Amino acid sequence: MLGSYALSASHPHILGGFSTVYFGYSCRQHEEEKQEGEGESKILKRRWSIDTTLVAFKVANGGNGNFKLTSSALSDHMKTSNRLANQEFKILNYLQCYGRCPFLIQYYDSFLAKSKTGEKICLVFEYLPLDLFTYIEKYGRLNEKTIKSLFKQLIQGVYHMHSLHVLHCDLKLENLLVGGTKSDNDSKRFEPTQLKITDFGLSSFESEIKPCRGSPVYAAPELFLGEKNSTASDIWACGVILFALLFNSFPFNTEMLEYFFCMKTFKEKDIQKIKQHFQTPLENLFNDDDQNSWTSISIQTQNLLRGMLEFDPKKRWNVKKIRQEVVGW
Ligand SMILES: Nc1ncnc2c1ncn2[C@@H]1O[C@H](COP(=O)(O)OP(=O)(O)OP(=O)(O)O)[C@@H](O)[C@H]1O
Ligand SMILES: [Mg+2]
Repeated sequence: MLGSYALSASHPHILGGFSTVYFGYSCRQHEEEKQEGEGESKILKRRWSIDTTLVAFKVANGGNGNFKLTSSALSDHMKTSNRLANQEFKILNYLQCYGRCPFLIQYYDSFLAKSKTGEKICLVFEYLPLDLFTYIEKYGRLNEKTIKSLFKQLIQGVYHMHSLHVLHCDLKLENLLVGGTKSDNDSKRFEPTQLKITDFGLSSFESEIKPCRGSPVYAAPELFLGEKNSTASDIWACGVILFALLFNSFPFNTEMLEYFFCMKTFKEKDIQKIKQHFQTPLENLFNDDDQNSWTSISIQTQNLLRGMLEFDPKKRWNVKKIRQEVVGW
């Protein structure tokens, strides 16, 4: 769609879990016509010019998994990498049929890139300067006004996907890209005003959900107990994101979550342990009026967090209700 591509020397690549993201330019050559002179001496001049747009290329080459794995594990890792790229390609093409949503990353093109080990699928996206996780790591926590504006955009993106019966299944700070205007004091820093959801490798249609799970930190309780992803599990992840943005920490002990995630079978006592793990810290926070950080946020935001981090997926708020809540933000 955009012509040919060139890698940028000044933008270092980023290793994802299963892919590498490179940055570069899309170059489109087009012919320009110009009238020169007057009357009889009037001539039509033609010249070629090149439009360049900064883009991101996501290549399914195994990402940062490559360095740690034995050859058989590496082959499995590569298979997963290709499967995720194909799924991302399928979902992006489907979403594109329904027009552009400003809160999802814009997908421009795809092609097969040749490498020593065969052809790799390469997806081309619009470029945004940083993901939200890296932004906070670099520049510190955001103010409430910015958090609200970014969260509202996240919800509008999720609303678009859920309305089309597509689940994201991997919503996390690293998969939210931000852009904005440059700060006056620091030329590198920018105020994040724009948010776009990216990384559709684990996304699926509601009707064909596969048993795959994103990051344990953002995974809803029911996913630890063997249930499949749903719109409700995407909402839980949004709750964890809002919590992390507001309090600069995650709501649950992340080491325990990783431990639970690795468990294959559950005995009754494990199920109780998992339930307790999810309910206790939130109950403490939700019911304790003396918690300064908690009472410093508005009642409306407190209720919203309660609605999204509801243990029972059937009682958890859906995106329509959340959208109504945040419309005035
Ligand atoms: N369009 C883009 N513009 C700028 N940076 C991007 C873009 N797409 C991805 N990135 C950066 O590359 C990182 C990895 O991209 P992405 O999440 O799509 O790959 P992944 O291999 O699926 O990663 P993971 O498995 O770790 O989630 C993102 O967290 C972000 O920092
Ligand atoms: Mg990612």
